[in-house]
Amino acid sequence: MNVLVINGPNLNLLGERDPKHYGTLTLSSIEHRMEERAAEYGWDISFHQSNHEGEIIDVLHSARLEYDAVILNAGAYTHYSYAIRDAIEAIRIPVIEVHLSNIHARDPFRATSVIAPVCRGSIIGFGAASYILALEALVEIED
Ligand code: DQA
Repeated sequence: MNVLVINGPNLNLLGERDPKHYGTLTLSSIEHRMEERAAEYGWDISFHQSNHEGEIIDVLHSARLEYDAVILNAGAYTHYSYAIRDAIEAIRIPVIEVHLSNIHARDPFRATSVIAPVCRGSIIGFGAASYILALEALVEIED
């Protein structure tokens, strides 16, 4: 299994950004935890963070040729990017949507995910553990 983890806008600031919603772990420490869990399964895992919508779309397009699955936290693009939604729909490898915070328990605009209908599933609200749970989901659906 070859997995790509994509983090969208502002997630590079994890650790200092709004810890009440996002916790205190940095993105690199979350990635390190994922690396450790992936290694237990003998999986390859890669990471990409971008603050740019078009770059995320380009990375999703490339992923379809190189990876078996994508774990995606699209940040605020989750709520309105039809372009990222269409890219996910186009690539036909499973994409698991993750969020650190419970997007249904915050500002009303966050309760909508335009990408959820085209993702394999969504893991929302478990802090950094959402990312680990996404790996566990891939274990369960791998067949
Ligand atoms: C987020 C939730 C989004 O609403 C927000 O814009 C983010 C982070 C999360 O992981 O909880 O940037 O995707």
